[in-house]
Amino acid sequence: MRLDRITTAGLGLLLAVGLTACGSSTKSVDDTSSDGDNAGALVGVTMPTKSSERWIHDGDNVKAGLEKLGYKVDLQYAENDIPTQVNQIENQITKGAKLLVVASIDGTAITTQLQQAADNKIPVIAYDRLIRNSPDVNYYATFDNYKVGVQQATSLLTGLGLQKADGSKGAAKGPFNIELFAGSPDDNNATFFFSGAMDTLKPFISSGQLVVKSGQTDFKTVAILRWDPATAQKRMEDIITKTYAGGTKVQGVLSPYDGLSIGILSALRSSGYGTAGQPYPIVTGQDAELASVKSIISGEQYSTIFKNTRELAEITVTMADTVLKGGTPKVNNIKDYDNGKKVVPSFLLDPVIIDKTNYEKILLDAHYYTKAQLS
Ligand code: BGC
Repeated sequence: MRLDRITTAGLGLLLAVGLTACGSSTKSVDDTSSDGDNAGALVGVTMPTKSSERWIHDGDNVKAGLEKLGYKVDLQYAENDIPTQVNQIENQITKGAKLLVVASIDGTAITTQLQQAADNKIPVIAYDRLIRNSPDVNYYATFDNYKVGVQQATSLLTGLGLQKADGSKGAAKGPFNIELFAGSPDDNNATFFFSGAMDTLKPFISSGQLVVKSGQTDFKTVAILRWDPATAQKRMEDIITKTYAGGTKVQGVLSPYDGLSIGILSALRSSGYGTAGQPYPIVTGQDAELASVKSIISGEQYSTIFKNTRELAEITVTMADTVLKGGTPKVNNIKDYDNGKKVVPSFLLDPVIIDKTNYEKILLDAHYYTKAQLS
């Protein structure tokens, strides 16, 4: 394990001991850091959309955590509409928020609002997604996004049998036909996921063991604006029609998010996949959303990436509390997240690959779902 990462098991202890201790650490040199007189202050929390389960949990968990510490919380969702999110942030500043937690829709679209926040000495924590092109982002709490992409590609390789779970060579030789999908081009995470995945897949594409039969491999072509499942479904349908008309089959699909995987699987099902003679390809995902975990259990989706959003919320709440009390929060990465204006000090959590072999152990042990929810 790398030292700048922490395991799920170690997180509770670290949060209890390390980060709490940081609350009383030296005053930040950052001039938007608070003077510490913020007991019961208002915190503005903006999330992108309620159309995906994960963001609902994120919002609820951050709100509950902050309220437990005595803060007031204004939690807003913008249904993936950029002007709505811009207004919500402006309103929170007007209402007197003392700190903002922002999971952005378009990471480049809120520079003016953040400038306004900085003018009012309101610190900003970027939540899960990096806010780009702004010097006014104080901290970033997220998962190791490059690693998410590596894990998605790794599970695709494992599912196809080209690699074993321990990283050694698998029994299969290929060639296998695969197709690639990426997330929203305005979400910085999408590029990290895709580059992690492509760095992992490229040697297999170069050796001819993987063939992207549609020929569509560049990020711009495979990206799905706003992570929209219907757009992914349509793109998969088009690829099946144009590329797989002559009886050749797609055997693997790199999908970066469970919502897209559901759309992709639906396109495949309409074209006759998912039967004994024509099994589904290996389809990856991300977020361990309930519908997709159930799809994994029933043998449709192959894998997902579990990111414990409760831990992300805890980290963020501790960061916010520390900043509001005038301290400097603990970070574990000060090099990877350059937003175009500054390298934002970040805390990265570890993602985990989930498939049929380990979903119960990992998700039940983390109390992410109950057994009843999964049956
Ligand atoms: C998040 C993913 C999520 C995606 C779509 C990304 O920014 O990191 O967890 O699947 O957005 O909501």
